[in-house]
Amino acid sequence: MSAGYPSLAEAQARDAADPLRGWRDRFVLPEGLIYLDGNSLGALPKATIAAMRDATDRQWGDGLIRSWNDADWIGAPRRIGDKLARLMRAAPGEVIACDSVTVNLYKLMMALLTARTGAGASIILTESGNFPTDLHVAAGVAAQHEMTLDAAPRDQIAARIGPDTALIVLTHVHYKTGERFDMAGLQALADAHNVPLIWDLSHSIGAVPLDLGKDAARFAVGCGYKYLNGGPGAPGFIYVAGEALEFLGSPIQGWMGHAAPFAMTDGYTPAPGIERFLAGTPPMLSLLALESGVDAMLEADGDAVWIKSQACFDFLAQLMATRCPELSPVTPARADLRGSHASFAHPDAWPINRALIDAGVIGDFRTPDILRFGLTPLYLGFADLWHAVDRLAAIIADGRWQRSEYRALSKVT
Ligand SMILES: Cc1ncc(COP(=O)(O)O)c(C=O)c1O
Repeated sequence: MSAGYPSLAEAQARDAADPLRGWRDRFVLPEGLIYLDGNSLGALPKATIAAMRDATDRQWGDGLIRSWNDADWIGAPRRIGDKLARLMRAAPGEVIACDSVTVNLYKLMMALLTARTGAGASIILTESGNFPTDLHVAAGVAAQHEMTLDAAPRDQIAARIGPDTALIVLTHVHYKTGERFDMAGLQALADAHNVPLIWDLSHSIGAVPLDLGKDAARFAVGCGYKYLNGGPGAPGFIYVAGEALEFLGSPIQGWMGHAAPFAMTDGYTPAPGIERFLAGTPPMLSLLALESGVDAMLEADGDAVWIKSQACFDFLAQLMATRCPELSPVTPARADLRGSHASFAHPDAWPINRALIDAGVIGDFRTPDILRFGLTPLYLGFADLWHAVDRLAAIIADGRWQRSEYRALSKVT
């Protein structure tokens, strides 16, 4: 320790002792760039390049339509779903890889409300400030069912669950603050009121330890392009615990969710398993890229990933507190109360982040005032964090973020 914060030599020593350090070479990362945005778009695994070549050259190019059978394209959503299930400690047959989080959330909400037996309950409960798509889908579904959407502050959610609650939708790790809900506790409360609860695991899977079986979670959706490194716009997933599947039907009765798609019948019979949540033809190139990312996560030691995430968080927090005190920490310091990103508030977070990107550090900004740094233990090291904070401190000290070119908002922030 020097000058009250860890030195670069200390950071390098920690990297040398890191049991996950070999993983970094398995990702494509531009030389000199520090990537702290794996919570938005994960880095490209080198294995995915080979997988994509195989998918295009051999499977599509040579195999053509035969690959639906010969390369088991048709089985990919379920095969990848079973792999995702292992990452969440769910059972085989409880997860299917398909569609976007948005579409999956819609399908699951509609399925649950359609199957609802408790008449009278008319409120869909969620968190105010939840990820916008969750709020928008919930508002749309509420309108379709002539229900009310109650978006409550986090600390009031538990108290709001009652006899009027028809459905709860919560994002396990908050996209902006990084706060994590107590899954087992809230699930038990929802169960006590007999209310289905859907978890959005977009910022959880591949980031924090998940044990859906132990926590008794029964319904979830999640994202493939963040910590799973599945590629831009990668398919998401739906999770439905075994016994619940029997009474749920997808609101989109597509042919791929049919019990026998190639029987080509006029009538619709849902597939007996989780496949009933498929809608149309699976996007094979995207699915195979996702599978490559998921395979890497399965091969990595999940305990080591979470241990390193915590060490990275503490290291970053210490550096930020001493070198960039102008930015206020937002994410809970306690590991069990957060995910794998660290957020800091500053009224000029946008231009500061733009200047930081020009200095070779990609973090991201969330309106109105949040700088968000994703901690991805497979390809991020302690020296990266040290240099990132060093460059941020320099930007704040010399005031270069105040240049006019950093003010203009871009389409994607
Ligand atoms: C919590 C959460 N839910 C949903 C989404 C969006 O999902 P999609 O665009 O795949 O529908 C995001 C994207 O960042 C997210 O953070």
